[in-house]
Amino acid sequence: MVLFEAENLQMRFGDRTVLENVTLSFGAGKLYGIMGPNGAGKTTCFNVLTGRYRPTRGRVRIDGEDITGLPPHLIARKGVSRSFQIMNLFNDFTARDNVMTALPEMRARSFETRRAVASDAKLADAAEAVLARVGLAGKGDVRAKNLSYGDRRALEIGVALAAAPRVLFLDEPTSGLGSDGTARLAGLIGTLKGQLTIVVIEHDMPFLFGLADEISVIHWGQVIAQGTPGELRANDWVRRSNLGKLQ
Ligand SMILES: Nc1ncnc2c1ncn2[C@@H]1O[C@H](COP(=O)(O)OP(=O)(O)OP(=O)(O)O)[C@@H](O)[C@H]1O
Ligand SMILES: [Mg+2]
Repeated sequence: MVLFEAENLQMRFGDRTVLENVTLSFGAGKLYGIMGPNGAGKTTCFNVLTGRYRPTRGRVRIDGEDITGLPPHLIARKGVSRSFQIMNLFNDFTARDNVMTALPEMRARSFETRRAVASDAKLADAAEAVLARVGLAGKGDVRAKNLSYGDRRALEIGVALAAAPRVLFLDEPTSGLGSDGTARLAGLIGTLKGQLTIVVIEHDMPFLFGLADEISVIHWGQVIAQGTPGELRANDWVRRSNLGKLQ
């Protein structure tokens, strides 16, 4: 079943076309990879899919509903979450509070009542459950700035998951991580696979090829190849890029 789809997206900034005819389709519970060179338009694509930019042409739909051009908070309310290429945590907040601010129950409250909510045991439990889901059990009291880099990357995913999304967009989740950190994050995303639809932009090819059900290659703002990891291994562009070395 198709849950989220983009049809013929175009994104122009002035006379510059950054995305052209991008069509993507994401099924429920599957994991999708997006790869491509620097500056290809991958993050811009996420920005269009999650409402930061209104596309200059094309449609975005979730569950058949047209959400093209809706602002980010309304798209989020339809069950769409994202993490950013550059981390977006509240550094002075604890890990638990970072997650709590993203819980739907918390977001529903007015700003004035949030302080009272902060001591709500039920919400704290919900935040703990999210922390456990991303491998941060027992670290709820640690301020984000005092967590290791790998833990911060995991916490970002926790914050995105707190909203209980149906679709999760992750922009280069392994960026800045060494091989151990990358392996750990692959393990974490592997445990989430099947629970919701996940779309991951990645430069780390073994990571992506090991996890994804299907991969799209974006180059010069266009989808130039699409297929299962096995199909893409045989793709000319992928072979000519350094992916040829992929085992
Ligand atoms: N708001 C904007 N105005 C003008 N140009 C933009 C804007 N946002 C992105 N671009 C341009 O669009 C192109 C694609 O950028 P984008 O960040 O989407 O690439 P990317 O594939 O995510 O690259 P990377 O792998 O380096 O993260 C770049 O040339 C960028 O300068
Ligand atoms: Mg990017």
